Amino acid sequence: MSKPTLALIGTGGTIAGAASAASVSTDYKPASLSLAAVVDTVPELRQRYGIEVTQPMQLASYDVRPEDWLHLHAAVIQAVNNPDVVGIVVTHGTDTLEETATFLHLSVDTEKPIVVVGAMRPATAYSADGPANLLDACSVAACPGARGRGSLVVMNGRIHSGLWVGKRHVSSIEAFDSPLAGALGEVADQAVQWFRAARRAPTVAWQRPTTWPRVDIAVAYAGVDETAMRAFIAAGALGIVHAGLGNANTPTGYRAFIQSLPAQGVLVARCARFITGSVTRASIYADAQHGILTAGPLPPHKVRIVMLLGLAHGMDGPAIQAWIDQILMAG
Ligand code: SIN
Repeated sequence: MSKPTLALIGTGGTIAGAASAASVSTDYKPASLSLAAVVDTVPELRQRYGIEVTQPMQLASYDVRPEDWLHLHAAVIQAVNNPDVVGIVVTHGTDTLEETATFLHLSVDTEKPIVVVGAMRPATAYSADGPANLLDACSVAACPGARGRGSLVVMNGRIHSGLWVGKRHVSSIEAFDSPLAGALGEVADQAVQWFRAARRAPTVAWQRPTTWPRVDIAVAYAGVDETAMRAFIAAGALGIVHAGLGNANTPTGYRAFIQSLPAQGVLVARCARFITGSVTRASIYADAQHGILTAGPLPPHKVRIVMLLGLAHGMDGPAIQAWIDQILMAG
């Protein structure tokens, strides 16, 4: 029987990290080994699958920038367009894994599974979780039930939507979860179990951006003022995510300032900082009247990606809000 072909795309991270000793699990250099070398540590991969390895970049994910997503996007599209490839696995550092997964979820229009996977422990550690995570990710990428769900994240035996997943712990191997949404399924001993159906969100009509617009996140806190927002605008920001207090509340002192920004050509989204829950429109902000975006339960760094993609594709505020509403409708 012929083996299913998977495209494995390496980007670096801890799954390819190396420490000075096998007993060291938090003090190490990410992106030290090639993906091909990591694949060689899991002989079952080549026994089970036809494996095609590419490595468009080799970075710790705290160094990944939107410019790097373009190289990754091109590699993913190449795999999508290869009729032999049934599924795609992207190995990635965990620090910004959820941002890359969100980017792929919203920019790659395919039914093929795109599974993003990382590790919390370097490849050299006694407790390395990368080999098992990689094998799990390949099991999911080869699973027909993974089709049409958009990007997925597989970590520590759990399968999450790339849109809803987040890193919640700095070092535990059980670092990822999907607040509010929950996991989509789990994988054990190469057996994939789905808990529920999920359909992928509508993607942007992708055209490779020549440059990315600047979109920043301004985090609110007790006593915050508009200094950070003014600095972002001075630096050329076309969009600002207001990571607000509670239900994305804005300190009274600069509410009027935020409300004035869309009319000056700076798009603003109201989100909740650090906490979960679906931000609602509040009459004191008159979001729609002032052209301020609201994004329900999406966290600030994911809303930033929606704004980056929307602005890079020439969408205005109402068009981006309509897209956000469609994304949230897909669940
Ligand atoms: C990184 O994000 O590249 C470093 C941390 C990790 O992969 O866990």
